[in-house]
Amino acid sequence: MEDQAEKLREIMKRKNDNAEPQANSAGRSFQASAVKTTMPAKNGIKPSEKARIITVTSGKGGVGKTNLSVNMALAFARLGKKVIVMDADLGLANVNVMLNMIPKYNLYHVIKKQKTIREILVETEYGISIVAGASGFSQIANMGEEDRRDFITELEGLSNADIIIIDTSAGVSSNVLDFIAAADDAVIITTPEPTAITDAYGIIKIIATEYDSLNMGLKLVVNRAKGAAQAKGVADRMINIAGQFLNLKVDYLGFIYDDASVPHAVLRQKPFMVVDPKCKASICVQHIVDRMDRNKTIATRGFGGMLRRFFGETNTA
Ligand SMILES: Nc1ncnc2c1ncn2[C@@H]1O[C@H](COP(=O)(O)OP(=O)(O)O)[C@@H](O)[C@H]1O
Ligand SMILES: [Mg+2]
Repeated sequence: MEDQAEKLREIMKRKNDNAEPQANSAGRSFQASAVKTTMPAKNGIKPSEKARIITVTSGKGGVGKTNLSVNMALAFARLGKKVIVMDADLGLANVNVMLNMIPKYNLYHVIKKQKTIREILVETEYGISIVAGASGFSQIANMGEEDRRDFITELEGLSNADIIIIDTSAGVSSNVLDFIAAADDAVIITTPEPTAITDAYGIIKIIATEYDSLNMGLKLVVNRAKGAAQAKGVADRMINIAGQFLNLKVDYLGFIYDDASVPHAVLRQKPFMVVDPKCKASICVQHIVDRMDRNKTIATRGFGGMLRRFFGETNTA
């Protein structure tokens, strides 16, 4: 453990010496590398081997990120895991809405340095904890480099969980890319709609461009499918294109049926896994989680792994 912390400090020191922000082809000032390079050394870093960080991202909005995040958390909890869902959709936060909760504090207070993440963590009645997001604060969605760095440092406070699921905003921003870079598993969710597929491919392409040397553990979920065959068709096409044109390995994690139980549960502000544990969507999510739980090859590098990826150890090796 100590060795690992020492190594991290070394990497940080090295990276600090040649910190330099990059801009991508779209002209967006991409600051993830700056986050990696300028994060302050913390003497007390004790990387946990436990926490597995899973991000849920999409190209297009409204394809099912929050539903997947929350219900996946419940499925992991059923396997006996201690799970935290962090609502990092900084702009359209709604994890708490889906759970009918109005937490007193949320990420706004963390970003404003009034609270720590650990202080705003709230238990739900479903055996999972949540870190509520900060809805409607568009300036947070565009956090500056320093704020983002502080925020990511704050994540350390959550490292005693088994699983941290991060529900990100749709599309590409430096924030989203930072979270993806920090993840053990980056789940990309799409629906069979051509627009959703195109946008999902777009985000995969940007991930490939920004992090070509990192093993991101990209995983694809097809939501709102008519059945296994349709979903497999969508997944195969995306996985082939990513392999052929981006030289990027994407794993197909599974699909979720288009199921009326989902909007029904959303209206009741309860997870569909709770309202109807036997519905098609619930069974699909449990399958996905069972598969993830079995397949831990690139996961469980925990917080140490997360820090290593922020500091770009893979690139310096
Ligand atoms: N598997 C599904 N079957 C039917 N409707 C779904 C399904 N998944 C999502 N939806 C619908 O899509 C809406 C948006 O889902 P949500 O999880 O909030 O998406 P996001 O977080 O990506 O914006 C839900 O409120 C629900 O009505
Ligand atoms: Mg959402």
